[in-house]
Amino acid sequence: MPGEPQNSEELVLAFLAEAGDEFVSGEAISDKLGLTRTAVWKHVEALRSHGYRIDAVPARGYRLVGVPDRLTPLELRPLLNTHDLGQTLHWYEELGSTSDRAKELADEGADPGTVVVAETQTAGRGRRGRVWASPPRRNLYFSVILRPELPPARAPELTLVASVALCDALRQAGVQAGIKWPNDLLVSGRKIAGILTELAAEPDRVHWVVVGAGVNVNARAEDFPEELRAAATSVLLERGQAAPRALFAAACFTALEEWLDRHAEDGFGPVRDAWRERSVTLGREVIVEADGREIAGTAEDIDESGALLVRSRAGVERILSGDVTLLRAR
Ligand code: BTN
Repeated sequence: MPGEPQNSEELVLAFLAEAGDEFVSGEAISDKLGLTRTAVWKHVEALRSHGYRIDAVPARGYRLVGVPDRLTPLELRPLLNTHDLGQTLHWYEELGSTSDRAKELADEGADPGTVVVAETQTAGRGRRGRVWASPPRRNLYFSVILRPELPPARAPELTLVASVALCDALRQAGVQAGIKWPNDLLVSGRKIAGILTELAAEPDRVHWVVVGAGVNVNARAEDFPEELRAAATSVLLERGQAAPRALFAAACFTALEEWLDRHAEDGFGPVRDAWRERSVTLGREVIVEADGREIAGTAEDIDESGALLVRSRAGVERILSGDVTLLRAR
């Protein structure tokens, strides 16, 4: 079920959107929604001030002709196909980091599935303290609050769940992404998306997990800092065509919820199989930086907890967290 409109402005928008290219009269809208004609007109004006282009023609009514490229609940809710994920959506034009905001909301008791999304981040974070480039209105930056029934030791599985889901959403968008362990999404060796998983837990219980995802959707080369240009890519750069960000965000939320449900019902097994199928790491010669050490060898598999198994001269090493550099294919 698509998300239900929550207020009169969303209802007016949903009504106009449903009419497609057709005009709808102010009278029809006010009858259907139980609003006065003046209220309908005010909502139309409010929508226009948010960037919606709405024709108004005497004796014919209103017609929606343009939707702004934003990710507010107004644009996203009608596209959502999820039972929980994104149904509560906190949108910001600018934020330090969506994950920092999601962690605050999680501490305040926010429901699982709550999403924080921003058009730009001034302190976007990657793994290992790296900066996540977050040019305004080009890409997707979001964080999801989860409250899984998992012991803390199994929380890293969620990172792999998210990487499989984003890989699927990218492939649906026509981009042949693959996963570099544990959770980098690459296309032809260039990074298109990354995932940062953080949690608060007691020894035997997870309070919350925040999965933060950054996907380069419509970034052009010049939107990335110069030092990243050779290593980063985007849906736009790969397809030569921009993607509607709201649709793409909704596809990510759907894929993520489907894989989270699957993980909750069937455990890590199916996720592990799906991750292996999408992996660009397995079978490759790699160098892994982990715990201040460098391990060179062949990435053989991931184990039943998602750890990377690398065959080095010393034997098979089990790596729980680290940075992988891919060398040549075997
Ligand atoms: C990585 O590949 O190192 C992980 C990148 C994660 C970036 C996302 S963007 C949304 C969320 N907010 C953050 O500050 N980081 C994550």
